[in-house]
Amino acid sequence: MAPFSILKFVSILGFAVSALAATCEVAGGTSDDGPAIAAALSTCNNGGTVVLDKTYTLATVLQTTALNNVAIQLTGTIKLSPEISYWKASGVQLTYQSAYTAWTIGGSGIHIYGGGTFNASGDTWYAAGTTGPIPWVIYNAKNVLVENINMVQSPFWHNFIYQSSNVTFNNINLNSIQTDGSQAQNTDGWDIYRSSNVAITNSHIINGDDCVSLKPNSTNVLVQNLYCQGSHGISMGSVGQYAGVQDIIQNVLVKNITMVNAENGARIKAFGGSSSSTSTTGGGNGYVQNITFQDFKCDAVTLPIVIDQCYETSTSTCASYPSKVLINDIHYINVTGTGTKSKEVVSMVCSDVCEDITAVGTSLVGTSGSSEYYCTNIGSLTSLDFPCSVAGSVVSSSKSSTTTKKTTTKTTTTKTSTTSTKTTTTT
Ligand SMILES: *[C@@H]1O[C@H](CO)[C@@H](O)[C@H](O)[C@H]1NC(C)=O
Ligand SMILES: *[C@@H]1O[C@H](CO)[C@@H](O)[C@H](O)[C@H]1NC(C)=O
Ligand SMILES: *[C@@H]1O[C@H](CO)[C@@H](O)[C@H](O)[C@H]1NC(C)=O
Ligand SMILES: *[C@@H]1O[C@H](CO)[C@@H](O)[C@H](O)[C@H]1NC(C)=O
Ligand SMILES: *[C@@H]1O[C@H](CO)[C@@H](O)[C@H](O)[C@H]1NC(C)=O
Ligand SMILES: *[C@@H]1O[C@H](CO)[C@@H](O)[C@H](O)[C@H]1NC(C)=O
Repeated sequence: MAPFSILKFVSILGFAVSALAATCEVAGGTSDDGPAIAAALSTCNNGGTVVLDKTYTLATVLQTTALNNVAIQLTGTIKLSPEISYWKASGVQLTYQSAYTAWTIGGSGIHIYGGGTFNASGDTWYAAGTTGPIPWVIYNAKNVLVENINMVQSPFWHNFIYQSSNVTFNNINLNSIQTDGSQAQNTDGWDIYRSSNVAITNSHIINGDDCVSLKPNSTNVLVQNLYCQGSHGISMGSVGQYAGVQDIIQNVLVKNITMVNAENGARIKAFGGSSSSTSTTGGGNGYVQNITFQDFKCDAVTLPIVIDQCYETSTSTCASYPSKVLINDIHYINVTGTGTKSKEVVSMVCSDVCEDITAVGTSLVGTSGSSEYYCTNIGSLTSLDFPCSVAGSVVSSSKSSTTTKKTTTKTTTTKTSTTSTKTTTTT
């Protein structure tokens, strides 16, 4: 027996603490283990380890936002109680897209690991046709490492990195297929918002929305070595939704991604402009800049490469009010594989002019065995290794269904709108 375990005592709060090793073991097995987990994190804060090796029910909101140099060793299972009305009323609101969460994890020096599982009981929400809380959120935190964790059945996004910096998720396994085998919607793998120096690496994701989504003000982000199945792709955006607000996505490397049975592959989405200074459906400004998608393998992806600078905005609105979100310095290196449309494999539709877009090593083919590439308002086509034609269609779904909308080429006297003439065929 290890010497420090002799010093364990059981507290009335439901966890045991070993003073020498600063280890807090949470007993679990109650109808709500949230308070005991919170107490353990408080006691073992500042250098200790909270051990979660049993099955725990999380039935009330956990707000552990003042963590400092603490480890959470999850080898057991955390289960979210499936109380739809409780979480809807009492989840922590996140001031972004009506998202709320069951658990805010904030502070500095946080290490979560152990091979255990967070089962967020999503079946209850899926069956009710509604969305629920994000299981946990990295919230106003810095220096965070989450590794070797499984998450199943998320009722909404699996992970949200919110106003945080230096956050790494490594070796994470996400699976939100419904018990009946169908795809659970809105189950983004990760969303990143107002955060910098974020890495998502070496992970396996089966879900029903964006595999990884970079929301406004995501900078210096690495997304590497992911297998994504059933998703809506790796997305920059959407950005530019709120008039008067500046959104920035900058310095992003997305590398070695396998994207299987997905709606999109490498995707950038920005709202169009708006006539209204108070619009909540476009008109925001900002930029998406210095983004590289490299070694991106597609297997049955509806549209492998998508730039949509008129996202959820009508064609006529975009024609009068082009997007105020600049998209430039975007690079595609070795994007390969298969689309599920007959021929269309690339759709880059800008409402303003998108500059400095390059592609090398592109090898994409539609189900017919040939390929078409659509570009609108791309500043220069000379650095693309595929021949663009005008005005394609875009997969423009943020919801459950796949919709196709037609776009037309913008003509403007003030900007150069460059499109080449005809499509080509590859074998
Ligand atoms: C998650 O919990 C649900 C019940 O809430 C259960 O049906 C399902 O099997 C669990 N999933 C895993 C992988 O443990
Ligand atoms: C980033 O966080 C990790 C812990 O995950 C830490 O080891 C590292 O020192 C941090 N880097 C910086 C620059 O603070
Ligand atoms: C690419 O990512 C996959 C996981 O999807 C991993 O198995 C493989 O080792 C990675 N390749 C390289 C060269 O890192
Ligand atoms: C993004 O950052 C810019 C520059 O700091 C700031 O002006 C803007 O308000 C931020 N946007 C959001 C959505 O936080
Ligand atoms: C562009 O982004 C990459 C990360 O993908 C970064 O390493 C590089 O320094 C950035 N370039 C500039 C000019 O900031
Ligand atoms: C692209 O793929 C080709 C063939 O697999 C390889 O030779 C080349 O080094 C890759 N380029 C980059 C920049 O990774």
